[in-house]
Amino acid sequence: MGVFRLKKIKKYIKDIDLAVETGTFKGDGTRVMADNFKKVKTIELDPTLHRETSKKLKEEGYTNIEFLLGDSGEVIDTLTKSLKEPTMFYLDAHWSGDASVDWESSDWKGYQTNTAHTGKDEKPTSEEQVPLDREVLAIANNFRSNGVIYIDDLDKFSFSGKGLKDKAFKGEDYSHLDLKMFRTYLGTRLTDWKNLKSQQLIIKFDKIPETSAEKFQQKLYYNTLYKLKYFSNYSYLYLRWLIKGK
Ligand SMILES: C[S@@+](CC[C@H](N)C(=O)[O-])C[C@H]1O[C@@H](n2cnc3c(N)ncnc32)[C@H](O)[C@@H]1O
Repeated sequence: MGVFRLKKIKKYIKDIDLAVETGTFKGDGTRVMADNFKKVKTIELDPTLHRETSKKLKEEGYTNIEFLLGDSGEVIDTLTKSLKEPTMFYLDAHWSGDASVDWESSDWKGYQTNTAHTGKDEKPTSEEQVPLDREVLAIANNFRSNGVIYIDDLDKFSFSGKGLKDKAFKGEDYSHLDLKMFRTYLGTRLTDWKNLKSQQLIIKFDKIPETSAEKFQQKLYYNTLYKLKYFSNYSYLYLRWLIKGK
């Protein structure tokens, strides 16, 4: 369970003034972003967390944060249609357990705070636990500018990118996800794809091209420099995995 690591992403966010976070929780990531971006928009599904965190950060004096309540998979679909400027998306919304979890049999002991999912009962499906796929699809389809996607918890995915089950606690389920799909969604807009040792994924992408010259340039970059960077990052990870087993 991570925190927003500004240091890891600093070189990718030059010239970006707006940060969008999914999964506000207690605002620890929100606060770091508010200190380092001009504006922050953060989305939380749980009404209590939304209310208490917005109250707390407003009392701390933050005036550059917009707190949005709702399912980030839906909220981001509308939001991305109206955003015009380069944006950093910190996609961190996921069920992190509640009182229904058998914490005794889990290595991670939880946040001791109930977190939300979009399901109707105690055993949410993988889709109801993690809205990540809907979030990335909305960004790829609706958001026209360039930006960066930052995803935490890469340890919840296999080396090939398949979502895993029961990693942090029994019942946690990322199995409907496959990181490969995100490459399909963003296509030739991709300019960098970096799996960090510290278990974050950074995806950098270009704007939707407006002219055929821009389209040509984007394809050329994608087929040369992007593929080279992607290949060297994966070769390094593969070698590390062969040598160290992680
Ligand atoms: C790991 S915590 C987020 C931590 C926070 N980003 C930070 O850096 O401190 C995940 C949060 O996502 C929320 N969540 C779960 N599903 C959601 C959804 N579909 N839409 C918005 N928030 C969601 C949970 O209630 C929880 O507060």
